[in-house]
Amino acid sequence: MAFTKTSKLLATVAFTSAIGSAAMAQEVEVLHWWTAGGEAAALNVLKEDLASKNVGWQDMPVAGGGGEAASTTLKARVAAGNPPTAAQMLGMQLREWANEGALGDLSSVAEENNWAEVVPAAVQEFAVNDGKWVGAPVNIHRPNWLWINAEIFDAQGLTPPTTWEEFNAAADKLQEAGITPLAHGGQPWQDATVFDDVVLGIGGPDFYRKAIIEADMDALGSDTMVQVFDQMRKLSGYVDENFSGRDWNLATAMLLNGEAGMQLMGDWAKGEIIRADMVPGEDILCVAAPGTEGSYLFNTDFFGAFDVSEESKPAQMELAASIMSKEFQEAFNLVKGSIPARTDVAPDNFDACGQKAMEDIVEAADNNALLGSMAHGHGQTSSVQRAMFDVVTEHFNSDMSSQDAVEELQIAVESAML
Ligand code: GAL
Repeated sequence: MAFTKTSKLLATVAFTSAIGSAAMAQEVEVLHWWTAGGEAAALNVLKEDLASKNVGWQDMPVAGGGGEAASTTLKARVAAGNPPTAAQMLGMQLREWANEGALGDLSSVAEENNWAEVVPAAVQEFAVNDGKWVGAPVNIHRPNWLWINAEIFDAQGLTPPTTWEEFNAAADKLQEAGITPLAHGGQPWQDATVFDDVVLGIGGPDFYRKAIIEADMDALGSDTMVQVFDQMRKLSGYVDENFSGRDWNLATAMLLNGEAGMQLMGDWAKGEIIRADMVPGEDILCVAAPGTEGSYLFNTDFFGAFDVSEESKPAQMELAASIMSKEFQEAFNLVKGSIPARTDVAPDNFDACGQKAMEDIVEAADNNALLGSMAHGHGQTSSVQRAMFDVVTEHFNSDMSSQDAVEELQIAVESAML
């Protein structure tokens, strides 16, 4: 009986997909790492948009937040001479693939649709390489958010912390009450997301620029950086004992179900909040990570366009044009948790956190405090980023002193730059 049911089901699936591909004039194969609930929901918005334009979708998901695993798979595909039509990429990756000469040229679609007018300058710096548009930006994420479970904070009589001292005081109180202060997953990119926040929060935007973006040895070896590692040590005491290796969305689930009070994470966490039918800004508060109000770390997901055969180009161009349409940018980003990568989308339909992001990014850009996130591929080359990840994670998971961490950081970064 079970067998019959299964074969009926399989037959239905085969029939439906045969219809699907016969009707789709063209197809794109897209490599990405959007496999968490909120991410997958956002990706569906794109798939459906393309289906409505008769472009089929061949999915190439590679799970793993932050995209490290996806990047390894992508390298193998390109090395084998078999790149996908497009791949999700962060800014530095896009730049590195373009410098390798692996990407095509989207400039004709970009000109036709006026991308130069509407895409923020900070995003164009990555999207345009040597005068050519090599990727289509789908969003702008902000990694320096602190998410707070409002019910827990109310019950404990706490208010959102605005400095790391206040953060530590709130965390101590939560810990005394038996609540995990910080929902966290011990994976290098998550440790680095937190580290970016602490560097920016303690040192301010100019220090972040020097230490992270310019990899200035004096800044990396400074007393400020020692204080950063002191705070990282405090944070390592605020996570639960099962944090190691946990995926980010499972950490977000701890925040949503009240096991943990706070999470330092980018606004892709909002995708999970929405899916759990909770209200961002009410049930889960969003404030800038301690000490970072006025500054904005950013990362953009691009769809990098590989230099594919003539035959695959029309579908690739259609993908790029669809991604950049004003309507799509609104629909997609409402689900993803990010804000549009175009400046002409009205804030009205966004929730309180999205509206705050849209205001904050303008203010930060005006104050020279809009900065690329190191953890999310916009602050450093991939080799320096890897060196920073290694030291930050080693420190977080050992009893290494702050002074030793600073020295290791200098050595690791210096050798990664050779
Ligand atoms: C980021 C990416 C986001 C988000 C996150 C977790 O690097 O830009 O879109 O999905 O990783 O996977």
